[in-house]
Amino acid sequence: MADKYDLVIRRGKVFTPSGVSEADIAVAGGRIVALGDLADIKAEEVIDAQGLHVLPGVIDTQVHFREPGLEYKEDLASGTAGAALGGVTAVFEMPNTNPSTTTAEALGDKLDRAKGRAWCDHAFFVGAAKENLNDLAKLERLPGCCGIKIFMGSSTGTLLVEDDETLLSVLSQGSRRIAVHSEDEYRLRERRKIVEAEGASVHLHPEWRDVETAVNATRRLLDLARKARRRIHVLHVTTAEEIPLLAACHDLATVEVTPQHLTLAAPDCYDTLGSLAQMNPPIREARHRDALWRAVSQGLVDVIGSDHAPHTLEEKQKPYPESPSGMTGVQTLLPLLLDHMHHGRLSLERLVDLTSAGAARLYNILGKGRIALGYDGDFTLVDLAARRTITNDWIASKTGWTPFDGREVTGWPVATIIRGHVVMREDALLGSPLGAAVRFAECL
Ligand code: DOR
Repeated sequence: MADKYDLVIRRGKVFTPSGVSEADIAVAGGRIVALGDLADIKAEEVIDAQGLHVLPGVIDTQVHFREPGLEYKEDLASGTAGAALGGVTAVFEMPNTNPSTTTAEALGDKLDRAKGRAWCDHAFFVGAAKENLNDLAKLERLPGCCGIKIFMGSSTGTLLVEDDETLLSVLSQGSRRIAVHSEDEYRLRERRKIVEAEGASVHLHPEWRDVETAVNATRRLLDLARKARRRIHVLHVTTAEEIPLLAACHDLATVEVTPQHLTLAAPDCYDTLGSLAQMNPPIREARHRDALWRAVSQGLVDVIGSDHAPHTLEEKQKPYPESPSGMTGVQTLLPLLLDHMHHGRLSLERLVDLTSAGAARLYNILGKGRIALGYDGDFTLVDLAARRTITNDWIASKTGWTPFDGREVTGWPVATIIRGHVVMREDALLGSPLGAAVRFAECL
């Protein structure tokens, strides 16, 4: 055992691969160095976690932080501040910034910008484009890169790989798991007239980007991935119809759902939130939400990502379809899931699998995703009984809003600890932004 400890967390209910039991945890040099009854040891900092659960640090594998290019919506400092306040210890950020992250220089620029400004650990996706096709195998292995992202359907930004030929070429470069936004661009173009008609309302969003739009793309994607023998990760799955397709291909495909698709349903969300509920792929009717919950409980879903995609309220208030798609989410991911757990929709074991272990497993993250000896000292301390109300005031995003404003939840993150540093306690950021790049087995 080390003779000097930086942090000891005492008497929390600690979630380890062996189960949940009361234990102390000691961290030195950023790593977990002792677990168990550590009553006799001393440390620089001691946290009394009695009554709290100590979970592996939450990893959000889908956020859009807008830097560089659209910093008026969000930047790496504000986005990661929201993450830390929401109990998130690491984020994977998407490439649809301006410029898009499609080169080694753009990736390096993001990593540089994050230094000394990011409140949590981070990695960045490289976007697949026709221009960088031949570089993808090299790009995906650069330090700080979590993998390649494909947009099959256009959303915010200019990244797009819509045709089968280019998709197959992308899937044939490199070997890491590729993350995909699966909506069929051809069908989106064909159906765009639905929302361009006079008086179109946001209620038509799931009509334009309909079930077939998602299913067609996922079917094509699975066929192409099979041909290329490439592992893929299907982001924000939204339809009941995709579930059996994905279940039949679990050898190739992992699955993400978002808290908003598990929480909201059409048409109510559009009645009450208008275009604040507009995102791609859309929030759909309750039968899809129910199917996503079944996929969560039956084990098909691997991770929950927030798809944090901030746009200002002013932009969101533009008349549909000019209103941009996306909503904040990194800060509310965990409170919403804890509340769903309180209502019996998932167990604590499932929640941890979806928010930390799942991410580590599918992206081959080193040193994160579980509380275990030698792993990073990343912890999310939660009070499962705390009753709180989510409000816009609490949201650190520059856009200052959440679609869940006013929602009461049971369960709340009360501390965020990253490599032994306490960066959030009782809704306040502490210390300084010390986020570092996440490490991956495939980038060693
Ligand atoms: O609604 C969305 N917004 N979906 C996406 O795929 C992109 C995101 C954004 O960046 O705004």
